[in-house]
Amino acid sequence: MGTSTYVAIAFLPLIILLAPYYIEPYQLWDPVALNDKVEGQRQTKWCNMGWWEDTNSFPLAANALAQKLIDFAKEGGYAGGGNVLDIGHGAGESLLLHLNSSAPPRHLHGLTSLSADTKYAQSILDQYTPEKAISTNIELYTASAHFNPTKDLNHPLNGMKGFMGEQKRDLAYSDEDELLFEETGGQGQLTLGDDAPPPYDLVYMLDSIYHYPPSLIPFLQTLKPVLGNGKGIVVYTDILPPPKGLSRWKSWFVSYILSVPSPNLTDRPASLEEYKGLLEKEGWKAVVIEDWSKGVWKGFSQNLIGRGGRWEKVGRAVERIEKEGWRFVAVRAKKVQQTMSHHSDFGNIGRCKS
Ligand SMILES: *[C@@H]1O[C@H](CO)[C@@H](O)[C@H](O)[C@H]1NC(C)=O
Ligand SMILES: *[C@@H]1O[C@H](CO)[C@@H](O)[C@H](O)[C@H]1NC(C)=O
Repeated sequence: MGTSTYVAIAFLPLIILLAPYYIEPYQLWDPVALNDKVEGQRQTKWCNMGWWEDTNSFPLAANALAQKLIDFAKEGGYAGGGNVLDIGHGAGESLLLHLNSSAPPRHLHGLTSLSADTKYAQSILDQYTPEKAISTNIELYTASAHFNPTKDLNHPLNGMKGFMGEQKRDLAYSDEDELLFEETGGQGQLTLGDDAPPPYDLVYMLDSIYHYPPSLIPFLQTLKPVLGNGKGIVVYTDILPPPKGLSRWKSWFVSYILSVPSPNLTDRPASLEEYKGLLEKEGWKAVVIEDWSKGVWKGFSQNLIGRGGRWEKVGRAVERIEKEGWRFVAVRAKKVQQTMSHHSDFGNIGRCKS
């Protein structure tokens, strides 16, 4: 599979990969199908599996899961504000959520592999960025999540991006809490370099990382160069197979859903403890892994089943996944503090499975 194909798939949420079994393609591509419009409100385009504790509405549940992942980052020490990178933001709903928080990011960067997503996200940001976030510097990138250091200089995961002749940047970051900026006449955008640089205080990935496993660990390594030293936090949601082996048809089905070759599925950590150990071995600290299955699978499958027809079949498939013991987990990790003379981060850029 070519890189671009792989990457396009890499950003599609699980539901989209699940649905081809039952739903025709034209329906697939528009999350509007699931985002029931609320009277008097904007049509949303959420595309995640939702957190269903207090609702049975798809857009509200999807919003709740996105918010829950932000809250999870805050519990881990992300103080709000700062520099945020959202990878796999789809149509951009989570970007608006970051902007609508009580302390909007100073810099908000989005990365998606689909230019249609970038365009759509930009258009809702243009229309709906809340007043309180008017001075947030927003930068959207259309690129693979796999940063290629030899090709892709203007990539948010390029840790060296800011070191190449952008002078304004140093000024802008001279003091964490006193960002120096001037407003332009028009939109009140910051006039820092066009590429507001890392480091990021938060890298956020909602329902988009599943497609990296088992390359998850090397992928996470590529985030380290752009995470703030000692305090940069990464949060994401992931899916773990049941601890016991899968039957053949199931592993085939699931390997299709996750677009991971079947043998690779067995490489996944069998328990949350093992998962945690794996990240710690790679030098992540303050690793927390929570099982969110209960709030996700059931509500999601019931919502789909309630729609009848082909969605019902997708819902039944989700129901089976839950019964098999698949887990929906949230992961949080911090970058270990490194001294200036320690260059291992950079050495790991683009590292492949060893
Ligand atoms: C933004 O946040 C406020 C308060 O936190 C909330 O009342 C409002 O509904 C939010 N707006 C959107 C579009 O989510
Ligand atoms: C599956 O595992 C093989 C062997 O470890 C690896 O080379 C390959 O990249 C993996 N595939 C994916 C999609 O991660």
